[in-house]
Amino acid sequence: MKKQQEHNLRPPRHIAIIMDGNGRWAKQRNLPRTAGHAAGAEAFRRTANYCRTLGVEYLTVYAFSTENWKRSAEEVAGIMKLLGAYLREALADMEKNHVRFKFFGDLSRLSPELRKLCEEAERSSGVYHDVQVNFCLNYGGRDEIVKAAQQAARDVAAGLLKPEDLDEARFSGYLYSADVPDPELIIRPSGELRTSNFLLWQSAYSEYVFMDVLWPDFAPEHLDQAIEQYHRRNRRFGGV
Ligand code: FPP
Repeated sequence: MKKQQEHNLRPPRHIAIIMDGNGRWAKQRNLPRTAGHAAGAEAFRRTANYCRTLGVEYLTVYAFSTENWKRSAEEVAGIMKLLGAYLREALADMEKNHVRFKFFGDLSRLSPELRKLCEEAERSSGVYHDVQVNFCLNYGGRDEIVKAAQQAARDVAAGLLKPEDLDEARFSGYLYSADVPDPELIIRPSGELRTSNFLLWQSAYSEYVFMDVLWPDFAPEHLDQAIEQYHRRNRRFGGV
């Protein structure tokens, strides 16, 4: 059996993942799409546990985008149900797992029950710091930037901010990710080569690793491979 994390390379502080390929995974097995999302939720549990073991500080996952509302009501309800079930479980296991939760996105469109679970998970996990999981829920990178610009404009109108004082650092403070360092590594499984409106501002210097595995099949060895690839890159941040 393959030993986990054979390379012993220090993982990045912040890893972000586009959990893609659930639908194709289900189709290959003649299963409904929601079965693919259920397997995707399992892959998330595995990956979050492994990140905690490795000492990754932040794990950000794209769980539901501002565009995903276009899917059938049945599929949307299925994803929301899985999220609710996971959050209930996480709330019950909080003292054991020590995971801190944050939510990036406009939660106002979620059902009151799910919104309450999100708020409760964020509030009661605030004391933990083994790993911080950021769930992107009803999240879009452009929407996040527009909402940040609106808030900055409001602050200017209220006399709290001078336009010339709005620099990159200040602007970052208006984003959902205000207190979170940018991800060093972004992983997209499933073979798609797009960023799909994910962390547009925060990914300016992130290393992208695209992988051919479908998200429900994503295992610790895939995370190891992505971390290895990340370490082989020569990050220059625009320098030489
Ligand atoms: C993209 O795959 C995936 C989503 C839109 C939903 C992701 C949701 C989950 C993994 C479950 C959420 C629950 C927890 C606990 C994390 P796709 O459906 O677009 O796949 P396809 O491109 O193959 O159709």
